[in-house]
Amino acid sequence: MAWYDLFASFYDTGLDGVYRAHREQAREALALAPGMTVVDIGCGTGASLPFLRAAVGASGRVIGADASPGMLHKARMRVRRNGWSNVTLLDVGATHTHEAERVGPIDRVLFFLSLSVIPDWQTVFSEWYGVLAPGGRLVIADVHNPRPGPYARGVEWVSRASLARESWRPLAERSAAFALCQQPSSWVLGGQFFIASGTKD
Ligand SMILES: C[S@@+](CC[C@H](N)C(=O)[O-])C[C@H]1O[C@@H](n2cnc3c(N)ncnc32)[C@H](O)[C@@H]1O
Repeated sequence: MAWYDLFASFYDTGLDGVYRAHREQAREALALAPGMTVVDIGCGTGASLPFLRAAVGASGRVIGADASPGMLHKARMRVRRNGWSNVTLLDVGATHTHEAERVGPIDRVLFFLSLSVIPDWQTVFSEWYGVLAPGGRLVIADVHNPRPGPYARGVEWVSRASLARESWRPLAERSAAFALCQQPSSWVLGGQFFIASGTKD
C-alpha cells in the first residue's frame, strides 16, 4: 500500500477529469435509488463518492473501503468538506472478511478501477458478493487489455494494475443477469474501459 499512500497526493490532479464520464456510466449501471446502501471497494480518494451520494440521497448510506491510509485520508477530507453525514470510510487492511460481514447486507457494490489492482481480488470479490442482499447489484468498472504493450505496461506500473486480468469472470459465473459493456480501446487508459454488472439471485 506504500505506493498508493504516495500516489494519493497527486491522484486527483492527474486523473480527476479523465474518468468523470466513466464514473457517471458506473453510477447508471448501479441503478441506485434514494435510501439504498452502496459500498465502493477500493474507493481511493473518494472520486466516485459524489456520484454515489447524489444517487442515494441523504436517506441512503455510502461506504467507501480501501487499504491505503493515504488514499483514505484524502477521502476523509472530501467527506468532511462536503459535510456528508451518511458517508462512512473503512480501512479494510489486508483482509476484507470482517468488514464485509459487519457492513452487510447491502444493496449495491462498486469496484471502480480496483479489482485490477487488488492482489487477492477473487477472494475480495467473493466476500463482498457474499454480503450483497438477494436482488442486489454489483458493478465492476475497469480497464482491460489482453496484451499490454509498452504504454499499457507503463499504466500498469503507475497504477499497480494487471490489465490482462478478466476481473468480470467471477461475476459472470454467479449472476444470471450478467452484462458486459466494453468501450473502444483508449491509449490514454491503456486498454478498453468496461462496465460489468450483475445481480445476486
Ligand atoms: C486505481 S485506484 C482506484 C481508486 C478509486 N476507485 C477511483 O476510482 O479513483 C485503486 C485503489 O485500490 C486500492 N486497493 C488496493 N488493494 C486493495 C485492497 N486489498 N483492498 C482495498 N483496496 C485496495 C488502492 O489503495 C487504491 O485506492
